[in-house]
Amino acid sequence: MSKSLIEDERAAIETLIGKFSTVSIIQQLWKGFGAIYRVEKDDGGSVILKHFNFAHETEPLDDPMPNSTRFSSFQREIRFYELLANASAAQVPCFIASKEIQNGNGKVMAMEDLDPLGFPGRFKNRCNLSFEQVLPMVHWLAKFHAGFWRNEKAAEVMWPVGTYWNIEKRKDEFQSCKDESELVKKGEILDEMIHSAKYKTLIHGDGKVENFCFSADGKKVAGIDFQWSGLGVGTTDLYYLLTSCYENFSRYGEVVDAYFKFLREFLREEIQEVSVIEKIEQEWRYLWPVIVADFERFLITWNPNHWKRNEYSAAQSKIALDLIRS
Ligand SMILES: Nc1ncnc2c1ncn2[C@@H]1O[C@H](COP(=O)(O)OP(=O)(O)O)[C@@H](O)[C@H]1O
Ligand SMILES: [Mg+2]
Repeated sequence: MSKSLIEDERAAIETLIGKFSTVSIIQQLWKGFGAIYRVEKDDGGSVILKHFNFAHETEPLDDPMPNSTRFSSFQREIRFYELLANASAAQVPCFIASKEIQNGNGKVMAMEDLDPLGFPGRFKNRCNLSFEQVLPMVHWLAKFHAGFWRNEKAAEVMWPVGTYWNIEKRKDEFQSCKDESELVKKGEILDEMIHSAKYKTLIHGDGKVENFCFSADGKKVAGIDFQWSGLGVGTTDLYYLLTSCYENFSRYGEVVDAYFKFLREFLREEIQEVSVIEKIEQEWRYLWPVIVADFERFLITWNPNHWKRNEYSAAQSKIALDLIRS
């Protein structure tokens, strides 16, 4: 279905990116709501096409998120590329062009192919990287967060709350959860503590290791997949990244320190007063256990036996609950 869709739209797509010969599918999007392709152009070089299908009428039974929210996430990613990507301080694929599909099936977007640009490496979730392997992604996050500091366009067009796990995006799932734990009962308070933070920026919102492309030597990364990008506290991205690929809890503190070292450096280019940069760090460090607890609460409501739940997340959640009580 999807391959012929690109073929059906070949003439229109060629007006955007030039003539092309080979199309290969990289992967289907979540539940088949579209697909990602690599297109080899006749004049050399390749581009990536992401096709977002808005025509799905049935709600997938095993997906607790309404289709309307998912479609909205497609719109956000398209807007990210159209309006923000080319100004991003942190490396992301540049936007090339986008186009409505004629039969009302959605939109196709063309962006730079990161592989020939020097980012051919990929890691799967749960790959348990070393501290050194994680650092380039930590560096990328800090650069992204600082680069979009007080960016009005980002605040206007992306999610008011970044991530896919905040309560507002999954209200039915949260309300129908039978779990009696204090973490779930206090879920809304934790959620609110994060969203009422004084200092927020654009966060990636789904910054797991699978959404980074690595240079061959593993020292540099580029970020992709901006469906859940929106306003938030930078360390939300950091914790979520670590849950995807780093199991050495004893070194979590060092990773957090490294993040703030990078962040301070990049924020100095955006903010004159050093005292404000200090306050940002203070607030985001204070919120760390709350961020961990909020994600833990999401896992309990969505999939309580999830592999991302562990002693570290349990201990931090306890600290967060103590913070509420104090
Ligand atoms: N610009 C790009 N350059 C190279 N590879 C890409 C690019 N965009 C996506 N990909 C590849 O396609 C895969 C899926 O892309 P992604 O945007 O993360 O889709 P999904 O929303 O399904 O997770 C990525 O893991 C990556 O391997
Ligand atoms: Mg992805």
